[in-house]
Amino acid sequence: MSQARNPIIVALDVPHLESALALVQQLAPVVGAFKVGKELFVATGPEIVRRIRDTGASVFLDLKFHDIPNTVAKAVEAAVRLDVQILTIHTSGGLAMMQAAQKSAEEAALRSGKSQPLVLGVTVLTSLNTNDLDEVGIPHDVGNQVERLAGLGAKAGLGGLVCSPLEIARLRQILPSHIQLVTPGIRSADSKSDDQKRTLTPKEAMAAGASWLVIGRPICAASNPRAAAEAILSSL
Ligand code: C5P
Repeated sequence: MSQARNPIIVALDVPHLESALALVQQLAPVVGAFKVGKELFVATGPEIVRRIRDTGASVFLDLKFHDIPNTVAKAVEAAVRLDVQILTIHTSGGLAMMQAAQKSAEEAALRSGKSQPLVLGVTVLTSLNTNDLDEVGIPHDVGNQVERLAGLGAKAGLGGLVCSPLEIARLRQILPSHIQLVTPGIRSADSKSDDQKRTLTPKEAMAAGASWLVIGRPICAASNPRAAAEAILSSL
């Protein structure tokens, strides 16, 4: 998927179809896409994706696939048939798994006549630190491990990566420029940080080289979500 002009992706972190669709209806004219994560997808199933697509809005299916190459390829194929525009896989699934996912996205799009989704690789979850990596047998500093996995994702032909806002500048230096970087952890200077510890403002993240900004609570929990999204857009 080529990058839309509006880089805001709203994280629909709500448990019900109705509340998600109410947000979509309000926000669709002022944002670039909607992220459906595990909670909403497990609660509502593929129906939520169909209903969002019916409005014409783009969907980012954030299920972070991580399995054997054949299983991930089949899951990606099903996501293409569902007509999602962005999806996620774990880079730690390995080169062959990522290549299978990318190839499946390309072939399934051709076969089904749907658009080819942007396949994003998740590197190291931001909930993990160097000690956590050591516990699972990865004796590397988090930053180095992120770089290593990002490089592997690029080698596999992925179109983009998910990273924390503070990793954008470093990854921009080592990755080919066509790789799209998608970042959560976005907060305006005057808004509360919730449980996000390492944040950048929308403008800072775009200046550092982000392609897309994933924003949840600053928009969805605002008293007027549409006004909040418009304010963020005009700050860019
Ligand atoms: O509400 P908030 O703006 O913090 O939401 C950010 C979204 O991005 C949530 O859906 C969260 O799960 C997701 N995310 C994140 N940090 C990561 C990966 C994903 O906050 N490292």
